[in-house]
Amino acid sequence: MNTRFEVIEADITKLAVDAIVNAANASLLGGGGVDGAIHRAAGPQLYEECRMLGGCPTGEARVSAGYRLPAHWVIHTVGPVWRGGTENEAALLASCYRESLRLAVGIGAASIAFPAISCGIYGYPLDQATAIAVASARAHAEAHAQPQRIVFCCFGSAAFETYRRALGAVVH
Ligand code: AR6
Repeated sequence: MNTRFEVIEADITKLAVDAIVNAANASLLGGGGVDGAIHRAAGPQLYEECRMLGGCPTGEARVSAGYRLPAHWVIHTVGPVWRGGTENEAALLASCYRESLRLAVGIGAASIAFPAISCGIYGYPLDQATAIAVASARAHAEAHAQPQRIVFCCFGSAAFETYRRALGAVVH
């Protein structure tokens, strides 16, 4: 496995990577949190393209251009709302990472940055979500050479420390 994993504390809208991932909702028409920040930074053309995408079910992903963002593409994925862990949340969250990475391969993205999908408004416990994020990305990297660089972009030091711990346990 030659993939480089990174954990950084940053605003994902500022990252000059090939693709950033948006923690969207099923409408793909914007919202709060990282979704709102991405739409504000990308400008109104992102909303116009998202309208054409026709929504996205939980656990799936869709690609758009990045418009005014430094990132070339936005991969919009819809994480599960945390309902206590009995509603298939773990499998759906793993699917978000898997599908986003599969789309990244399709568009030829060499670098991708993820926010902590579902860990804000959707209420997924950070520890559990981080373990899924890291395991899913690692499983992808074991089977695919691309993207060469996978960045976990954390908003705040709690997420940063949690990701660092989780990644320390799996990176060789
Ligand atoms: N850069 C990186 N991470 C960020 C940023 C940023 N600029 N802003 C927030 N985060 P959330 P969700 C972190 O709530 O839980 C929206 O309304 C944040 O600290 O953005 O998947 C959508 O439209 C947290 O760790 O997404 C949906 O309706 C993580 O990003 C709903 O929220 C995800 O928090 C999705 O909820």
